[in-house]
Amino acid sequence: MSQLKRVAVIGAGTMGRQISLQIARHGFRVSLYDIDSAALDAAEQAQRAIVADWVATGRVYASADESIFDSLSYTADLASACRDADLAIEAVPEQVELKRAVFARLDRLLPGSAIITSNSSSIRISRLEDATERPQRVANLHFYLPVWDSPMAEVGGGSCTQPQVLDGLCDFVRAIGIMPLRVRRESTGFVFNRVWRAVKREVMRVADSGVASIEDIDRAWMIKFGRDKPPPFAQMDRIGLDVIRDIELHYAAESGDPDDLPPPLLTDRVERGDLGVKSGRGFYDYPNPAWRRDDFLDPDAAIEPGPLS
Ligand SMILES: NC(=O)c1ccc[n+]([C@@H]2O[C@H](COP(=O)([O-])OP(=O)(O)OC[C@H]3O[C@@H](n4cnc5c(N)ncnc54)[C@H](O)[C@@H]3O)[C@@H](O)[C@H]2O)c1
Repeated sequence: MSQLKRVAVIGAGTMGRQISLQIARHGFRVSLYDIDSAALDAAEQAQRAIVADWVATGRVYASADESIFDSLSYTADLASACRDADLAIEAVPEQVELKRAVFARLDRLLPGSAIITSNSSSIRISRLEDATERPQRVANLHFYLPVWDSPMAEVGGGSCTQPQVLDGLCDFVRAIGIMPLRVRRESTGFVFNRVWRAVKREVMRVADSGVASIEDIDRAWMIKFGRDKPPPFAQMDRIGLDVIRDIELHYAAESGDPDDLPPPLLTDRVERGDLGVKSGRGFYDYPNPAWRRDDFLDPDAAIEPGPLS
């Protein structure tokens, strides 16, 4: 049973809208905040489409629709999102200074007992904790996309996070249908994101150096690991290529190794505004990406050398 009942989710982008929906679906009150009110409108629209699909496919009862949206509120006023919240989950872009500024504001506006967490993909919480006056009550709480189909969240503390804070977060994520994955020692990228990062980095290097095409790498992945889930380049398109770029830049800043910088294959697309599913084009074109086509795995197509960019 979770003691954390009221939640503020900060940032209504790809992750904030999914995290807040998963929380509301489990009956907790959640307030979704963004600096951009258009992002809030887009989030509500996307959430209503997801819930309609859940109802149509029998994933939730039709009556759940109303109760989910009764639990959710949307606001462009941070103070009102924070009032009475027991827990804040920050999901703004992957930039240390931006997250520190958000943490400092949350610290001023939340009740003293509230826990502040970051959904960061790679940033250790000890890089953010001293932006607040409550470093013992901050933690990493990292969800995966899609939140309900990858029901796992890494939970990890910083230099002085109280163990009961981490226990409370584990109880909370269990209460919203997610398995907590405890990070026993601070680590850039935590647990599974380190593994996924190695995959992303290597497939981009293989394609960027001209060894194989994006499509052939994804084909190989699907033949080896199964056809029902997006292969690596398709998954990066779902996440957002700007998000992937920011994560890679964070790893490079931490290591100081130029070899960790994101390759042109990625940065050129971000500069062109080709951000993946959200912009309609990334490594693939949407809404009907080639990797989803029935003939994508056709052996004749697989031996054709595809374009490298
Ligand atoms: N996309 C993924 O699959 C994924 C998965 C796990 C973790 N993450 C992490 O979650 C975080 C958010 O990623 P995303 O994909 O949702 O990004 P996104 O770009 O889709 O959304 C970010 C949102 O934050 C808002 N924002 C920017 N500055 C803000 C501020 N000062 N206050 C409030 N809102 C602000 C933006 O308007 C935008 O709506 C990042 O740290 C990312 O690394 C992303």
